[in-house]
Parts: sequence; C-alpha cells; structure tokens
Amino acid sequence: MNAAPHAPTDLTIRRLAVDLSQGFPRHWNGGDAFLTAFANALSMSFPVGEQFFMDAVKHGAKALPDTPENADLKSVVKGFIGQEATHRHLHSLYNAHLEKQGLVNHWGPRSEKRLEKGRQMLFEKSEKGYLHELAMTAAFEHFTSIFGDLTLERIDQPGDWFRGAEPSLQTLWRWHAAEESEHKCVAFDLYQRLGGNHAWRMRWFWYVTVQFSTDVIRQTVNNLWHDKTLFKPSTWWSAGRFLFGRHGMVWRVAKPVWAYTRKDFHPLQVGHPTQANDWLTGHAHQWTAVGSKV
Ligand SMILES: [Fe+2]
Ligand SMILES: [Fe+2]
Repeated sequence: MNAAPHAPTDLTIRRLAVDLSQGFPRHWNGGDAFLTAFANALSMSFPVGEQFFMDAVKHGAKALPDTPENADLKSVVKGFIGQEATHRHLHSLYNAHLEKQGLVNHWGPRSEKRLEKGRQMLFEKSEKGYLHELAMTAAFEHFTSIFGDLTLERIDQPGDWFRGAEPSLQTLWRWHAAEESEHKCVAFDLYQRLGGNHAWRMRWFWYVTVQFSTDVIRQTVNNLWHDKTLFKPSTWWSAGRFLFGRHGMVWRVAKPVWAYTRKDFHPLQVGHPTQANDWLTGHAHQWTAVGSKV
C-alpha cells in the first residue's frame, strides 16, 4: 500500500531562469487569441492577489503560538511567502509587457479596492480578522492549485493549455503551476490550526468562487476587446473547446472544486500526489534554489 500523501514540511524558494526583458508576441500562447487572453487575465490578478495571500499567511503565523507542534507550519510559511513573492515579481514584469501591448488591467485595481474595504470593515476590525483573510486565501489557493494540477496533468497532449506557448512563458506558467500545487496546504492548515470553522470557510469559498469566476470572464473579454479579437469566430471556437471540449476545463474542475465543500476536506485529497514534484525535478536546470551556491 502507498503511504498517504503528506504536506511538505519545507518549501524551496526558486529563482526561475526565464528572461522576460525582451517581451513576447501578442498571441504568445500558440497563436491562440483566447488562450492568450485567458492566461493574461489570470496574470493580471496575481500581483494584488499574491500580496494579499502573503499578508494573510503572515498574520496567521503571527497568531500561532510558538510551540513545538507549530514549528513545522511556521517554517513552511516562510517558504510560502518566498514562493508567492517570486511569482508576484515575475508576473509584474509579465504584466508590464501586457500594458505595452495595449491591454488594460482592471482586475488588479478592482481587487485592491475590494480588499481595502475588507480591511476597513472586517480584517482589521475584528479580533480574529486573520481567520477571514486565511479562509479567503485558502479558497483562492484551492483554485490556483486546481489550475496548477490541470496545467501539469496533460503536458503535450490534447487539453494542455500551454502546448504551443512561447518557451519562456510556458516555463513560467508550469513552474507557477507546480509551486501552487506544492504549497496548497499552507493557508488551509493555518486556518484549521487557528480554530477556523467550516461555516466561515464555506462563506468565503462561495464569495471567492463568484468573484473569481466573474472577474476572470470580465478581464478575458476586456483583453480580447483591446486585442480586437473579441468578435472573431476563431476566438469563440477556442473558448468553447477550452471550456466544454473533450478535455474541457468545466468537466475537469467540477469534482475537485466541489470537494472543498466537504466538512472533512483537506487539500491533499485532490490532485496528483507527485506531479508537481516530478515537473520541478525534471526541470531543475531551469531554476536555482534561493540561498544555494551555484
Ligand atoms: Fe502564486
Ligand atoms: Fe499560491
């Protein structure tokens, strides 16, 4: 019998060997306007979102008593913050090129405004405001880890979302996917360890599900509008295949997304136990561990 999967007790912070300084073509994802616009939309949300995740986890770790049982979780938090900070940095460089291409990031500023309201009304007002931040972060991290798992699941097969992508961006997305999958337990475990309950976990999950789905659609449509490809039949054909095709996203996300609603849910119950690690090991020449001598 295989040993049950367990959350990593140590997270490597990796510096990725990709050069984004020269920019990339407008339709960098296999020449496909829709797949490019969708991924660009996600990228636009990351700098604000990932900063919030880092802050939430930092606040949670601060509230966690310094006991030997909590030592593992406290140390994994450092790795989480390092990984998200690296993602944030690279996606900011990436987003700067999108701006040069004439795309307009509405998602980031909109999220920032919402989060500011949340801080004023809830996170900084209530005594255990960090639990709300963590429940929200755990819900987002559930989505990012599912996307991460699905990104790595069918590499070079139909249903591979980055099959024809420019090499630098293909590496960036798959590396980010692997790390999202790798650190998927951190916010969730902190929430549980600090006494977060199921009812609030569900409230924030549904809030995040609605906001995330609406925002990703709005920003993708806006990107296509600025790209002047919104009304092309090929764009809609690609969107239909991506969502509802044989390996469509809708069918692939339904089960793992729903799993989050179970009372006894844990992130290790979904996804492939070794896929992220396999990718990272197989592409070790494309990254350097921060702090290691090379
Ligand atoms: Fe990330
Ligand atoms: Fe993450």
